[in-house]
Amino acid sequence: MALSQRLWWQDGVIYQIYPRSFQDANGDGVGDLPGIASRLDYLAQLGIAAIWISPFYPSPMADFGYDVADYTGVDPIFGTMADFDRLIAAAHAKSLKLIIDFVPNHTSDQHPWFLESRASRDNPKRDWYIWRDPAPDGGAPNNWTSNFGGSAWEWDTTTSQYYLHSFLPQQPDLNWRNPEVKAAIFAAMRFWLDKGVDGFRMDVLWLLIKDDQFRSNPQNPDWTPGSNSFGSTLPLYTSDRPETHAIVREMRELMNGYPERVLIGEIYLPLTRLVTYYGPDPNTTEGRGADLPFNFHLIQTAWNAEKIATLIRNYESLLPPGAWPNWVLGNHDQPRLATRVGQGQEHVAAMLLLTLRGTPTMYYGDELGMPNAQISPDEVQDPAEKRQPGIGMGRDPERSPMLWDESPGAGFTTGTPWLPFVPDHAALSVAAESARGNSLLALYRRLLDLRRDRPALHAGDVTDVAAEKGVLRYIRGWESGKRLQILLNLTGEPVQTPAERGRILLTTLMDGAGADVDGTMLLEAGEGVLLELT
Ligand code: GLC
Repeated sequence: MALSQRLWWQDGVIYQIYPRSFQDANGDGVGDLPGIASRLDYLAQLGIAAIWISPFYPSPMADFGYDVADYTGVDPIFGTMADFDRLIAAAHAKSLKLIIDFVPNHTSDQHPWFLESRASRDNPKRDWYIWRDPAPDGGAPNNWTSNFGGSAWEWDTTTSQYYLHSFLPQQPDLNWRNPEVKAAIFAAMRFWLDKGVDGFRMDVLWLLIKDDQFRSNPQNPDWTPGSNSFGSTLPLYTSDRPETHAIVREMRELMNGYPERVLIGEIYLPLTRLVTYYGPDPNTTEGRGADLPFNFHLIQTAWNAEKIATLIRNYESLLPPGAWPNWVLGNHDQPRLATRVGQGQEHVAAMLLLTLRGTPTMYYGDELGMPNAQISPDEVQDPAEKRQPGIGMGRDPERSPMLWDESPGAGFTTGTPWLPFVPDHAALSVAAESARGNSLLALYRRLLDLRRDRPALHAGDVTDVAAEKGVLRYIRGWESGKRLQILLNLTGEPVQTPAERGRILLTTLMDGAGADVDGTMLLEAGEGVLLELT
């Protein structure tokens, strides 16, 4: 494929913003859209291509915006629709694309659709949600569990039936078998596409359809009592149902009416299942599914060179023709990268994410090395923690506010932040790291520059993926251009490792550029090197 035929979401890097935590413009301790707009220069200079903003729709905030009460509005805590219009115009003026989160699986229980649906059994919107009679014993219709623990069924006293909620009881699942639901959601998608959004990140895309016979899920023999009770059964009848693919294709078809929009799917599945979401033939208009079914496997794989080499090879071999890969290293549902990979590995993780083949998605603050925040029991906000306390379900630690400077509110707020800042953060702010030539932020900037400049990195192939003694290595190449080898020491010890003949372009220690390498190299603990092959 010629470079000119490539699309922005293939070549560029996506940056996720959790809007509550990025920048507070009005001093209420919660981030907002004007706040994001005021930080666009930072994002443009960082060198990313697109921002994806987690939900900012009107919401009772039972799940911090993933419980939507109006698909075509802005919650006052985040600003107004005029603020959104200003934000998208300002982003586009800086050549930044704007992707929004969309939550098609469920609404808030305060959404007018659900208020109608639960009003009576013969309400025209009754069938917009999933209502069932009790089981013969009077209990829940079957054993389906909520992702946040406990039964996925909630009893409604007014109409004496259960409704389904894959997440909180305040998040009733929509009935995607009802064509009116589909039409209503598609109309909301068009609303935002007409406003010029550059794509959607579709929440829990693999959960949209449930078994039409409502069969109970099989027990999970590997479940440990005391862990998330969601895991006590295997989600055979509640996830990745065959009928989901037709909906994904229709979403993509709708978006084809608008040029160059991207459809991203949040999908937690094994690789063999994940890649089916690209659609039966991503090369054709009719066969195209999600453009980027999010690949979370780097998050789920042990931080081990051999295991990651196997992962890269497997993923690459499973991608259908025409499918473009992608990699995610952090998000608002997962422990912070810096905490997961451990001190001293954040730099090599950055080089991995930004040199692999495929669109990388970064999570705000990971470029600073922000670790998990420490949340005391009285500071807990996340409903996932509140529903099943003390077993590690909480997602507050990775939602701590962005660190802009060393002032008391970290430049995030002039008020009291809705979540505490991460511990010992003086050296971690944008201001502090911008002043240090070899900071993690400086490394991200350099890697993003190189990725943009070099077709081998943003468009090229990946070959020779191997691992030895804890060092992961691979080669990126583009047509007749110079090939690059990436060497990543994922261990805490120095390692002497084989290397191609070449010249050092960049090391994660930000030293040694220009030096020649021939056949072997000593990598420091947690060091990564980018070689230009000669
Ligand atoms: C997705 C979101 C998560 C949310 C859930 C329910 O997994 O990423 O934050 O709680 O969907 O909407």
